Amino acid sequence: MKDKINQLIEEVKALQASTTEEVESLRIKYLSKKGTVSGLFDEFKNVPNEEKREIGQLLNILKNSAQDKINSLKNTFAANNKSDRDLDLTRTAEPIKLGTRHPLTLVKEEIAEIFSRIGFTIAEGPEIEDDWHVFSALNFPPEHPARDMQDTFFIEKNPDILLRTHTSSVQIRVMKNQKPPIRMIFPGRVYRNEAISYRAHCFFHQVEGLYIDKNVSFADLKQALLYFAKEMFGADTQIRLRPSYFPFTEPSAEMDISCNLCGGKGCPFCKHTGWVEILGCGMVDPNVLDNCGIDSKVYSGYAFGMGVERITNLKFQVKDLRLFSENDVRFLEEFKSAF
Ligand code: DAH
Repeated sequence: MKDKINQLIEEVKALQASTTEEVESLRIKYLSKKGTVSGLFDEFKNVPNEEKREIGQLLNILKNSAQDKINSLKNTFAANNKSDRDLDLTRTAEPIKLGTRHPLTLVKEEIAEIFSRIGFTIAEGPEIEDDWHVFSALNFPPEHPARDMQDTFFIEKNPDILLRTHTSSVQIRVMKNQKPPIRMIFPGRVYRNEAISYRAHCFFHQVEGLYIDKNVSFADLKQALLYFAKEMFGADTQIRLRPSYFPFTEPSAEMDISCNLCGGKGCPFCKHTGWVEILGCGMVDPNVLDNCGIDSKVYSGYAFGMGVERITNLKFQVKDLRLFSENDVRFLEEFKSAF
C-alpha cells in the first residue's frame, strides 16, 4: 500500500488539464467519494496497527497534494476565463485624456492677438541679460534701488550678468538692431528676488509694447491701450491714466481699467474704488532712444508693460499666484472652456 500511495503522490504532482471540464474530471477521479483517494482511506481500516501511523501520514500527504494541485489548476482557468469575459469588443474605446493649455499661455496669446490686429508684431529676447540692457540703457541711475540684490538675481558681478527683472530689456535689443518704424510686443518670463506667497513669486510673465516712429504722441498711446482694454475686458470697459514715474519713459503713467467685476460701481475686488490697475506706460525717454542710436530729435515713441498673471487674475479671479506654477491638472482644466 505504501508503494501505491507514493506512486499516486508522484502522479498527482504531474497532473495536467487544458479545460475546466478536465479539471473537474480529475477532481472526481481522485477526490470524490468514490475516487482513488477515498478508496485508499477505506482500505486504511485494514492496515495493521503498527503501520497505521506511517501510512496515515502518507495518505494525508496524498490527499493534500491532490487538493492543492486541483485547486491550482482550477485557479489558472478561473483567471483565464475572467479575462475572456472582460473582453468586450463592442465597448466604446477608453477616452483619451487631452491636455489643456496653461491659462497664462492662453492670456498671453490673446494679448498678442489683440495687438496684432493693430499692427504689432512679436519679438523675444534672452532671460539672462547684462546690466546695460536691463538697467543702464533704460536710463536707470546707478544707485536705483531696482538694481539692488534684493530685487535682482545676479549670476555674475563685474561685469553684471543677471536674470532680467522686466521685459523692457527687449525694447533695447530691438531698437539697437532695427530702424523705426518699430511696432512690436515682447512677451516673456521675468525674475525678481521676492519671497513666494499667494501674491508674489520669484518669476512671472510680462508683455512689453513699443511703438517708435515720427510724430508718435501720447494720444496714440492712449488710443492703443483703450482698444486693448475694450477687446480684452469688454466693450464697456473704461480706462484712466494716472501720472507715474519710470526711468525709461517721460511722461509716465499707470493705467487702470474700470473694475471688470462690478463695472465700476465699487466692490471688495477694486477696494471700492471702481478701478483696477493693469499696466505701466509712457513716452519713451529721449535718453533711451539716443542710447540705442535712434535720433530722439527725429523719432518719438511710446512703451507699455503689463503682467500676464495680473491680466489673468482680472479675467479669472485666481486668488493664489502659486497655482500658476504648480501644474495641478485640476486647476489647469478649469480653463478648458474659457477661450
Ligand atoms: N518695466 C516695468 C515694470 O516691470 C513696466 C513698464 C512700465 C514697462 C512702463 C514699460 C513702461 O514699457 O513704459 O514694472
